[in-house]
Order: sequence, then C-alpha cells, then structure tokens
Amino acid sequence: MIKKRILIINGPNINMLKKRNSNHYGIKSLEEIQKLCKNKANELNMCVDFYQSNIEGDIVTRLQEALGNYDGIVINPAAYTHYSIAIRDAIEILDIPIIEVHLSNIHKREEFRHKSLTAEVCTGQICGLGYIGYLVAIDAISQLI
Ligand code: DQA
Repeated sequence: MIKKRILIINGPNINMLKKRNSNHYGIKSLEEIQKLCKNKANELNMCVDFYQSNIEGDIVTRLQEALGNYDGIVINPAAYTHYSIAIRDAIEILDIPIIEVHLSNIHKREEFRHKSLTAEVCTGQICGLGYIGYLVAIDAISQLI
C-alpha cells in the first residue's frame, strides 16, 4: 500500500523557537519538533515533509504545490494566522484535511492573536499544547484520511 503523505508547514520565526519566549513556545527547537513528528509519522506508516518560511508568498507557493501531492497538511502560519488573506485563500483551494497548530494558546494571549483568518478554512485547530499539538494533528490526519 502506498504510504500517505503529510506536509508540515511552519511560518515566520518558528525557526527561532529556542530564542523565543519559552513560556509561550516551550524549550524545543523546530528541528527537535520535526524529529518527533517524523517518528510519529513513521509509527503511523506515513511519510512527512517539512517546510518553514518567513515569507508569506513562499508559504502560498508551497501550499499551491501541495495540491494533488499530499493527503493532509499541518500548518502553523505563526503571525500570518492573524492577518494573511493570501495564506487563507491558498488553504481554501486544498480539499484535504488541514489542521492549524499553535504552540501557545492564542486565545489566552493578546487580543490581536485571538482571531485566526486561517482556521476558518482549516479542518480544525489545535492550540496551547506546545509541540504535542503537532503530534496530535498528525494522528488526527491519519484518522481523517
Ligand atoms: C504561534 C502564535 C502566533 O500568534 C505567533 O505570532 C507565533 C507562534 C504559536 O505557535 O503559538 O509566531 O503561531
């Protein structure tokens, strides 16, 4: 049987996790989180690819390229969550399960983080669980597809 494919996309500053506020984002680096995601995907007999960019248009392009090539997407659009109509529109084109993940609980933080433009076009949103959110999202996608 062909392995199902998941793409995990991270937005701006997620490559800087170790230097960011650990109260919000935990103590693991993006590389460490990606390793755990890879293990999780292996357990579930799925393939996983990773993409991180600080540039809105590059994330849009990666989402467009995902069309027809993946069975599910996990995305942490980071700050773009709160204002990127372009990323929202790119997500909306995809007809596969897409889970939005945030390390921190965006609803417990500043008012401007409460609104997600992107979650409205995702299958679901997980926030506030730290890196565990990514693992839960992979699990959810494996069951949804
Ligand atoms: C974040 C939350 C966003 O508000 C913030 O801009 C980030 C990270 C999170 O994972 O908790 O960069 O997406």
